[in-house]
Amino acid sequence: MHYAQITERLAQTGGAKWAVHQRCREMKAKGADIVELTIGEPDQPPDPSLIAACHQSMLAGRTGYSSGRGEPELLEAIAARYARRRPGVTSANVLCFPGTQTALFATMMGLTGEGDGVLVGDPFYATYEGVIVAGGAHRESVQLRPENGFRLTAADLEAAVTPQSRVLLLNSPHNPTGAVLEADELARICAVCKAHDLWIVADEVYEELVFDGAFASLFDDPDLAERVIAVSSISKSHAAPGFRSGWAVGPEEFCTRLLPLSETMLFGNQPFIADMTAFALKSDLPTAARMRADYKRRSQLFADSLEALSGVVAYRPQAGMFLIADISGTGLDGDTFAWRLLDAGVAVMPGSSFGANAGGLIRLSLTVPDEAVEQACERIAAFVEAL
Ligand SMILES: Cc1ncc(COP(=O)(O)O)c(C=O)c1O
Repeated sequence: MHYAQITERLAQTGGAKWAVHQRCREMKAKGADIVELTIGEPDQPPDPSLIAACHQSMLAGRTGYSSGRGEPELLEAIAARYARRRPGVTSANVLCFPGTQTALFATMMGLTGEGDGVLVGDPFYATYEGVIVAGGAHRESVQLRPENGFRLTAADLEAAVTPQSRVLLLNSPHNPTGAVLEADELARICAVCKAHDLWIVADEVYEELVFDGAFASLFDDPDLAERVIAVSSISKSHAAPGFRSGWAVGPEEFCTRLLPLSETMLFGNQPFIADMTAFALKSDLPTAARMRADYKRRSQLFADSLEALSGVVAYRPQAGMFLIADISGTGLDGDTFAWRLLDAGVAVMPGSSFGANAGGLIRLSLTVPDEAVEQACERIAAFVEAL
């Protein structure tokens, strides 16, 4: 039978990246004692008030179809949040999606097609590859260099631009590196985007998980209002990935043009999830502050321990849920290291899951309790010393 090209394009972008994680889960199901540091799932539950808000909304009968763009109260709550960053944002600038992932997918489908290039820092979040190639575009890698702390620089961006480039997919705070771009770096990146008439799609899902210092975004610059689309969700900020609630905020024309695509894909979102999300965005909840403190402390525990090991270089994150380490000095590549470490009782992601530029890296998740971090450190140290 004939299948569409999209299935071919996406065939190589999924499963293999998560093979260590899947094997870890299989081994744990059979009773193996493994510290799981693979995926970025918050280790604290969402605030109980979110579950209560969902429940109340369902009891109130909010279980029917919703507006394709998003429920009015949620659109307003999202618009108000972004209007604090850039006055003038209204509901007409917002589209609701079930998570950042769908928002990214729809946005890319709306901005790019066959032959178009999407610039993205390499290493990059594992699902970006699929999001870029699904509609026929191709990835244009911008090297993130260890000597620059894996920060995207304007010079490296300029060097990667081609006549096909249409979009810069910008992720700050960054997964997997934890780098947070500052206002002056962003201004230089912006100059390149303007010079080449590029869209900027800003994935800001870790906005609330910056450990110290400020979060800066090109979305906040009024001069860029027609060029920047911000995508985000409550998955990380509210420790609520399973609710699948996110959005895209951009120019009004972008939202108008994307709405039919969004409706074709989704036919609206769940009203009770929308009510809960509006409540979450209007409330001052302690979840993000708790995660910031936990993830910062655990990143320090990991970095202090890894730095003492010969052949290992740890990169201290400024934000997010992960820490990356260069283990190439041990003589192993990231894949071999991760698979062998799994047998030694620790599951990490091999860097290759985050692009060709990350082959010598591993990524560790900070979403396990401190005791598990300490146990993982001991096992990693014993593993490296025995190499
Ligand atoms: C950089 C980045 N973007 C997007 C996502 C997907 O987030 P969501 O749960 O909102 O779809 C993740 C999840 O880990 C992520 O790390």
